[in-house]
Amino acid sequence: MKMRSVGIIGTGKYVPERVLTNADLEKMVDTNDEWIVSRTGIRERHIAAPEQATSDLAYEAAVRALKSAGMTADQLELIIVATITPDTSFPSTACILQDKLGAKHAAAFDLSAACSGFVYSMATANGFIQTGMYKNALIIGADTLSRITDYTDRNTCVLFGDGAGAVIVGEVPEGRGFLSFDLGAEGAGGDLLKLAAGGSRLPASEATVEGKQHYIYMNGREVFKFAVRVMGTATEEVLRKAGKTKEDIDLFVPHQANIRIIQSAMQRLDLPEERCVINVDKYANTSAASIPLALVEAAEEGRIKEGDTVLLVGFGGGLTWGASVLVW
Ligand code: ACO
Repeated sequence: MKMRSVGIIGTGKYVPERVLTNADLEKMVDTNDEWIVSRTGIRERHIAAPEQATSDLAYEAAVRALKSAGMTADQLELIIVATITPDTSFPSTACILQDKLGAKHAAAFDLSAACSGFVYSMATANGFIQTGMYKNALIIGADTLSRITDYTDRNTCVLFGDGAGAVIVGEVPEGRGFLSFDLGAEGAGGDLLKLAAGGSRLPASEATVEGKQHYIYMNGREVFKFAVRVMGTATEEVLRKAGKTKEDIDLFVPHQANIRIIQSAMQRLDLPEERCVINVDKYANTSAASIPLALVEAAEEGRIKEGDTVLLVGFGGGLTWGASVLVW
């Protein structure tokens, strides 16, 4: 069977209006702008309004992506929302979004792979479209991490922000679109980065609330080491699968967690900074939204030309990683 070529045919992004700066955080916990900028590269992050949930951020990004693809919602055949902060355990955020958009012909589900979720979702949609099961898919990375962040814990509260990035994927001419994917997991490291309570292992109770177990727990140093390692290995592997070398990369779009992790990946690749998208300073780590926010922003700024080779790579809770090489 001849496989179809699949690629991105529309893009959109959204961040909530409210900006939380490092100066604001200085008033909330024992931290300072100098520490945050030198250790993470983050200067500010966007925070959802009290009435906004993940599906609301996803909706805004989705509407923009549909417009850019010149499509209407009822043409969509599949919706995948990558998120670790769904509106509710169920129904899925994808189903809530399907209803809001009026995408009545689309199948819809959420995908949980933390910060790697967007790349995992694109790989999933790629498989469905390559084989002809669906013609198109709306893929969204959306997270409202502010809802699971402990704003009394300086170790984590400076790191995260809210946002959503969306792409429409569909059939593209041969030689364009996705060339390769590399997905992976190391479940043994799951305890390094987790939200312990609220699931079937530890249902919500007074004790779990008291123990702050509904907030992100992270072992930052260990996650840092994992991130540097897999950013390197996943990049090499996804290039090998695509039959490309690092010299072929026109734009490198890494997960925006920490500028030092990005810089170490750039050094390993020996790529100049102008070939890398960095917006962690403005948005912080937005988990599943991070890679699409970076990709879509780069596209909107005209940094990606038709025919450019783009490499996406991310890592996150699970632990997981995901990378893709695509021709724009
Ligand atoms: N302000 C001031 N001091 C702080 C702050 C802060 N906001 N946070 C921590 N510190 C202190 C610590 O308490 C520690 O003090 P101590 O030595 O007296 O104990 C000191 O700074 C150094 O802490 P380190 O952990 O060594 O700092 P490090 O240089 O490793 O940076 C960081 C910490 C930024 C968290 C880093 O480890 C990191 O980025 N890790 C990876 C995080 C990541 O990528 N997470 C992905 C999450 S993705 C997802 O799935 C949601």
